[in-house]
Amino acid sequence: MNQFGDYQNEIYFDGLRGIKPSLPVDFKRLEERASAALPQSVLSYVQRGCGDEFTQRRNVEAFSDWGLVPRMLVDTRVRDLSVDVFGKRYASPLMLCPIGVIGVCAQDGRGDIATARAAAAARVPMIASTLMNDSLETVAEALGEGDAFFQLYTPKDRDLAQSFVRRAEAAGYKGIVVTLDTWLTGWRPRDLNDSNFPQLRGVALANYFSDPLFRAKLAVPPEEDIAAAVRYWASIFGMTVTWDDLAWLRSITTLPLIVKGIQHPDDAKRAIDLGVDAIYCSNHGGRQANGGLASIDLLPALVAACGDVPVWFDSGIRSGTDVVKALAMGASMVGVGRPYAYGLALGGTAGVVHVIRSILAEADLLMAVDGFPDLAALRAAGLRRTRA
Ligand code: FNR
Repeated sequence: MNQFGDYQNEIYFDGLRGIKPSLPVDFKRLEERASAALPQSVLSYVQRGCGDEFTQRRNVEAFSDWGLVPRMLVDTRVRDLSVDVFGKRYASPLMLCPIGVIGVCAQDGRGDIATARAAAAARVPMIASTLMNDSLETVAEALGEGDAFFQLYTPKDRDLAQSFVRRAEAAGYKGIVVTLDTWLTGWRPRDLNDSNFPQLRGVALANYFSDPLFRAKLAVPPEEDIAAAVRYWASIFGMTVTWDDLAWLRSITTLPLIVKGIQHPDDAKRAIDLGVDAIYCSNHGGRQANGGLASIDLLPALVAACGDVPVWFDSGIRSGTDVVKALAMGASMVGVGRPYAYGLALGGTAGVVHVIRSILAEADLLMAVDGFPDLAALRAAGLRRTRA
């Protein structure tokens, strides 16, 4: 039986033939390499966050405040990292976070397609952003046998929101992930100092430009006057989704509904009462609001509040060890964000697959060494604070 950790043997055996991995297996070196390769404006948009980036830093640092206590004398020759997601079995709990400019992280501008192919090849679900360079239908085609969820930035125009949802349903997406924290953009000094906001240059707006309802609102098609189309987009981009709107969103789809950006247990409980199928604990990687606590520190209370309802997690995942810690805290699915953007920038589809395989191999080997044959055992063991 193949195990994720086998990637390690592949790498070492390749070494015997003089072949080293073409990309680093760790985040620090990956980011260094990507920093040298990406155009400055794209790098800055991906790498940077809100305010002085306190929250973004804490997202990463806070993982070292938590540690595992290994168990010995357990047979972990076979590890099972598989999870059930709304009735379907996935080999691992990893997922690819929605990244709105992933298109331009690829040299050819088709990064959404490359990500879909990587998700299919590595058998992890992709969460496709509303903000893509290719339409959600084109991305769904590129997925082949792979799976994706559709992430919705709810437009002010409810009919357009409904149109996106209908299209996602028709294209075979497995659920709708509504992002709650981005009806406007947080204060990002790095992007502001460079006056750099890709969408205003027409980047990543394919889902809007291909939508009949959006197009009907324009005097001329986007292909003829992109500036006017972008202006209209900016005027309708973000609805301030409130509890009433959430009830409406629930009513417009029978697909699983996941709410992204929940941090407070009371919000989680209320969303569950309104019928959402999963809570997605995330602070957008510190890109939207500064001054907040690390998402990983908020995860235990959310898990406790959600009972049997799955809690998805992202923000600060840089390694397989981070994934294992989030799972030990009770996350059902764990999202990788910036690391795969760098993998894509450096190696396209293969680069994303390498990042996923590296993270999964590290997670799998950690579970093997620490005596956790499956996620239930890991979750039962939990984590300890590294400092009192
Ligand atoms: C994002 N994120 C995001 N989230 C979302 O719901 N829709 C989106 O379109 C985007 N776009 C986006 C662009 C870029 C460049 C980044 C880095 C992130 C947030 C993303 O889904 C996830 O929450 C964060 O990436 C998690 O933080 P880390 O682990 O990547 O630091």
